[in-house]
Amino acid sequence: MLCVDLITQLSQEHQDYVINLSVLAEVIEGIRVNGRGDYFIATLDHLLESLTIDLDDHARREEDFLFPKLLERAPDGPISVMLEEHQVIRALSAQFGRWYPVWRDGVEEAFGDWLEPAETLRGKFSAHMQKENLILFPLARRILTDGEIRQLTMIPDDER
Ligand SMILES: [Fe+2]
Ligand SMILES: [Fe+2]
Repeated sequence: MLCVDLITQLSQEHQDYVINLSVLAEVIEGIRVNGRGDYFIATLDHLLESLTIDLDDHARREEDFLFPKLLERAPDGPISVMLEEHQVIRALSAQFGRWYPVWRDGVEEAFGDWLEPAETLRGKFSAHMQKENLILFPLARRILTDGEIRQLTMIPDDER
């Protein structure tokens, strides 16, 4: 059983999100140019879970496991900013999750209600992940011991 530590797992999820966010940008552009279409809807349906339920889970694992450890060691570090950004990102994600299905199911007027938060989410979440990749995760690797990082190792799904 291959077991990666939490920081590695979160980094891998960031890579997946970078791809998903660029697909989101392409689909939004496609809808702007061509209007709604089955391909765009199918792609957005697929992105919806990743950018709502999975994103919430990703943020919660950072908040529940990684951030408290880092706060113990670096109380003046960037955790409070990261937490504020999580709240902004969650709110945008919730708006997207609330209004995209309404538009998908035929209410054309709801287009802007999901489009605007989705586009803002793309920018904010990209910038947030860059901060975590470039500042937070390297800081964690520097100040946490190997043992502490191992304790952050996620339990594989099939052993939960
Ligand atoms: Fe985060
Ligand atoms: Fe993250």
